[in-house]
Amino acid sequence: NSLDLLLDKLYNTNELSRDELIYVLENLDEEHTQKLFDYARRTRDRYYGNKVYMRGLIEFSNICRMNCLYCGIRAGNSKAERYRLSEEEIFECCREGYALGYRTFVLQSGEDPWYTADRVVSIIARIKKSFPDAAITLSIGERDDDEYRAFFEAGAERYLLRHETASKSLYERLHPGASFDNRRRCLWVLKEIGYQVGAGFIVGLPGQTKQDLVEDLLFLKQLNPHMIGIGPFIPHKETPLGKEKAGTVEDTLVMVALARLLVPDCLLPATTAMGTLHPRGRELALMAGANVVMPNLSPVWARPKYELYQNKICIGEEAAHCRSCIERRINSVSMEVDMGRGDHYKFRQKR
Ligand code: SAM
Ligand code: FES
Repeated sequence: NSLDLLLDKLYNTNELSRDELIYVLENLDEEHTQKLFDYARRTRDRYYGNKVYMRGLIEFSNICRMNCLYCGIRAGNSKAERYRLSEEEIFECCREGYALGYRTFVLQSGEDPWYTADRVVSIIARIKKSFPDAAITLSIGERDDDEYRAFFEAGAERYLLRHETASKSLYERLHPGASFDNRRRCLWVLKEIGYQVGAGFIVGLPGQTKQDLVEDLLFLKQLNPHMIGIGPFIPHKETPLGKEKAGTVEDTLVMVALARLLVPDCLLPATTAMGTLHPRGRELALMAGANVVMPNLSPVWARPKYELYQNKICIGEEAAHCRSCIERRINSVSMEVDMGRGDHYKFRQKR
């Protein structure tokens, strides 16, 4: 059977052509999907074993100048209650996270210009000074190249910037006023500066085709990022896409597994959006080749306000609750929590 041959080829070489990927997507049945997940798990285990790396997520501002059609904190959503954490409040989240054992902090926000380069640098320096053995990941959108450089020099070592979709026409429809080319250019710049870089995309966007998803996979193969974030589209009622259908767990799992096989050494989160669509969505993603989780460290009062999509999980839970909840889930799929920095293996020797 040619599907078996293609899956074997993917497993053995970590490569498939555009046409081969399309063929796989169009012909996957239940049996071959399980085979795909099995190959993805084995590939992950070869690089990282059965460890799941923990990242403490701090959502420090929901103020955003962008207008992504799918996103609940888009500038155009006048119903969103806006907030910003001060340097002190962000630091407080890190302190709580550090005490819980976290050694990676992901600082995420809307594209909020109040956090000038100087302010961001000061926040990074403060965290680095108190917690020198913790890694800092930024996820604050598109910035100038010299700002990216300043953050890196201040001690931020990772940057998450999903490419969102590799279809230029879909990207332009979903991101009014934004530049498809600039977002991708940022990813190359971040890589060149020396960050561990995370790209990734949304599965099940309105109008997205199988061909588009194959382009997402091929873009990842070409960029060869250190981290890959893949999550399903989930509508938010106060957005222009509020009445559209959500992406599916099944389609997202297939993308997670294919990403694992195409970029075998990447760090790949089981995303919160997966946990939102399905009660065991994150566990299923781990079973399809993921190996990172990002429990929330934001103050409980801020969590409902950082509502990117409907029914987001962990809205009412304290950080300590999520920490133990996620451990149980990880153990339920025969994996183990790793509280270390969890660098990409190419970056481990450097420290
Ligand atoms: N502003 C930064 C940026 O653009 O990279 C980081 C924050 S942004 C809210 C984080 C991610 O949320 C985006 O990359 C996007 O993929 C995801 N997201 C936003 N709205 C979503 C939705 N309705 N469904 C699924 N994912 C969504
Ligand atoms: Fe937050 Fe389970 S991880 S409640």
